[in-house]
Amino acid sequence: MNQEVIIVRGNHTLEGDVQISGAKNSALKLMAASILGQGETVLHNVPLISDIEIMAEVLERLGATVKREEHTLRIDTANVNSCETPYELVSKMRASISVLGPLIGRFGEARVAMPGGCQIGARKIDMHLVGLEALGVHFDVDHGVLEATTPQGMKGAHVYLEFPSVGATENMLMAAVTAEGHTAIENAACEPEIEDLANMLNAMGAKVSGAGTSLIEIEGVPLSSLHPCEHTTVGDRIEAGTFLVGGALTGGPLTVRGIDPAFLRMAIMKLRAMGCEVQTGKDWITVSREAPLCSVDIQTLPHPGFPTDLQAQFMLLAALADDVSVITENVFENRFMFAAELMRMGADVTLDDHHAIVRGVDHLQGAPVSSTDLRAGAALVLAGIVADGETSVHHLEHIDRGYEDYAGKLASLGADIRRVAAPSPR
Ligand code: EPZ
Repeated sequence: MNQEVIIVRGNHTLEGDVQISGAKNSALKLMAASILGQGETVLHNVPLISDIEIMAEVLERLGATVKREEHTLRIDTANVNSCETPYELVSKMRASISVLGPLIGRFGEARVAMPGGCQIGARKIDMHLVGLEALGVHFDVDHGVLEATTPQGMKGAHVYLEFPSVGATENMLMAAVTAEGHTAIENAACEPEIEDLANMLNAMGAKVSGAGTSLIEIEGVPLSSLHPCEHTTVGDRIEAGTFLVGGALTGGPLTVRGIDPAFLRMAIMKLRAMGCEVQTGKDWITVSREAPLCSVDIQTLPHPGFPTDLQAQFMLLAALADDVSVITENVFENRFMFAAELMRMGADVTLDDHHAIVRGVDHLQGAPVSSTDLRAGAALVLAGIVADGETSVHHLEHIDRGYEDYAGKLASLGADIRRVAAPSPR
């Protein structure tokens, strides 16, 4: 498909209501968990984004069938007859590694290509492996492919994660559901997507408790007692946070619907600290701002700390605030590439190891910019909406991985935005 760019004209406001899609970082794992159901699992509120397409391809390569009906997926894994996920798919999306746990949980073995790193960091999986080894999984690496076997079967264990890794927690969870006996995962990741996965596993017949806290306990059940289920994905807190930043930038009022405000407590606290008015209801959040943006310090941390996936969006807010903000990225080792693009639009950011010192400026200037990762790309489009003049955002493939109809949703809120074929290089 032709490369496309987003052209956005500045000095527009974003106001009104926007429906938030299902969470990318939950739906991908729910799809992987369907392997354990050995029949047709129905998933609702699945976002229409390219990462979902790749995970569907991974499942089809394993022998599953995936039917798409708008935001519903019907995934039949009865005939999954392979436990092999090749490099060509894992290299397209590193989250494919999420099939490792359920393949081991179902077949006691798996062959999954090792994922590489990406722009934001090395993205190691050592904690996935240590945790699974504690359950009795044995790993060999054969030319870049992880070979997992369970020579003596899997037995529950008490595992302590040295870092609350989201992916490691999920892979261990999906394997431990059929490990014999009791498993405890201490220092588990507490993200809402983990709780969503555990709720679906329990609906399939698993016995998981404590998900959403740092101590998750699993009573193993026989594979035969797991069955397919119907499940609705939780709303995407990062998409919601991204739009809330858009409302905070331009003054709003902007309402995101289809999201539990409890998922965004820290981000809401920071929006209020920056001078925004935030109201919340059962499944909606409204942001507005009349006062000037106030500077704020931010430390990204595992949930319930400030989400690293909103770091770029809040750096944009800080770039237009009244003083100096210090943003510290504690989760990934290289997640400040956005700053370089923002500086091309006139922001004043000094990087010092994992700190970004952001001195507020009065305005930004539109410019041609490039997405470096999914969240930076989304933030660059927001920057174009408040900058003077026109901004063209390139490498939209990053944005399309995780935002359903991003330009269309922003246009419905008042942005002057369009996607056009990129001019061919002269
Ligand atoms: C998930 O990545 C999300 N991706 C990320 O969202 C999110 O930023 C991250 O969690 C943190 O919340 C998906 O869910 C598909 P981690 P994941 O394991 O599971 C290191 C987005 O924009 N680490 O919690 O890979 C790792 O390198 C994406 O939607 C190890 O060293 O995150 C990283 O520095 C970006 N060894 C840190 O821990 C391991 O075995 C957090 O990783 C595992 C992780």
